[in-house]
Amino acid sequence: MASNLYIVWNESNCLGIPIIDEQHRGIVSIINSYYSFVHEGRGEKIIVPTLMGLLHFTSVHFLVEEELIAAAGYPHMEQHVTLHRALMKRTKAIAQEASTNIDTDMKALAFLKEWWLTHINKEDRQYAPFVLDQAGRNGIAGRRA
Ligand SMILES: [Fe+2]
Repeated sequence: MASNLYIVWNESNCLGIPIIDEQHRGIVSIINSYYSFVHEGRGEKIIVPTLMGLLHFTSVHFLVEEELIAAAGYPHMEQHVTLHRALMKRTKAIAQEASTNIDTDMKALAFLKEWWLTHINKEDRQYAPFVLDQAGRNGIAGRRA
């Protein structure tokens, strides 16, 4: 069993927006499960549902994020949504081509790790102040508990 995590969540990955931070951690958790199953040599029976879970949760997360940044009047919404659409397309392809070939899976894992860490720490970080400002104006800290 692979006891090491593929992506170690660090508090520095947090944007300070509770619902978004929690969902990002959820995505990292699913990617870590995928990694663990690949290393255990688990077959499509578990890898395919894991990738379908990643696909569905990513789509939920993007819907939530896009609603939040639209409400906050984020000026680069269109570019951000374009990045989301491209990732959804790639995640769908990964889920459809789910493989038990370790080389193929490791390439997909490396792509997911790089994409998500870059997205969270660069692109998402750019909208965070707009969402936090709007939350402040509405008298709430981040999102409702
Ligand atoms: Fe995003």
